[in-house]
Amino acid sequence: MPVDVGPRAGPHPVPVTLTINGMRHDLTIEPRVTLLDALREYANLPGTKKGCDQGTCGACTVLVNGRRIDSCLTLAIMHTGARITTIEGLADGDRLHPMQAAFLEHDGFQCGYCTPGQILSAVALLAEKRPLDDASIREFMSGNICRCGAYKNIVDAVAAAGKQNV
Ligand code: FES
Ligand code: FES
Repeated sequence: MPVDVGPRAGPHPVPVTLTINGMRHDLTIEPRVTLLDALREYANLPGTKKGCDQGTCGACTVLVNGRRIDSCLTLAIMHTGARITTIEGLADGDRLHPMQAAFLEHDGFQCGYCTPGQILSAVALLAEKRPLDDASIREFMSGNICRCGAYKNIVDAVAAAGKQNV
């Protein structure tokens, strides 16, 4: 016969304030909520994609203080006070970010599921001043998997954006 242990102890929702794409978001979430789930499920920003949810595909890549991270591997509560950038924050109104424009111009996607993560990773790659030959781009984008195999065009897009000094 099951024993009644009373109300379960465990995490309870707490107030967490995040700054995403320059806007303040006051959320009430459990401390165990990942940054990825906070973005998609609580901040109404579904552009960041969930692929593996275990740090192997890069679909959930966002920038935190300009640094690319897998948002599925970190808790939202750890990033209060940080500057979080998602794909929704790259364009300037109707004007695409040059990396977004380069992906369009070079057909750097097929289904598009990996694309937000690819683009944010590519923006960081340029900020990190990585070399822009094919092999280096492939190496420094290797955390971002594309199931459609659009790698050749992704590399072309990153190289083209890099030449524009974006
Ligand atoms: S969903 Fe985060 S790395 Fe795959
Ligand atoms: S474009 Fe489909 S997974 Fe990359």
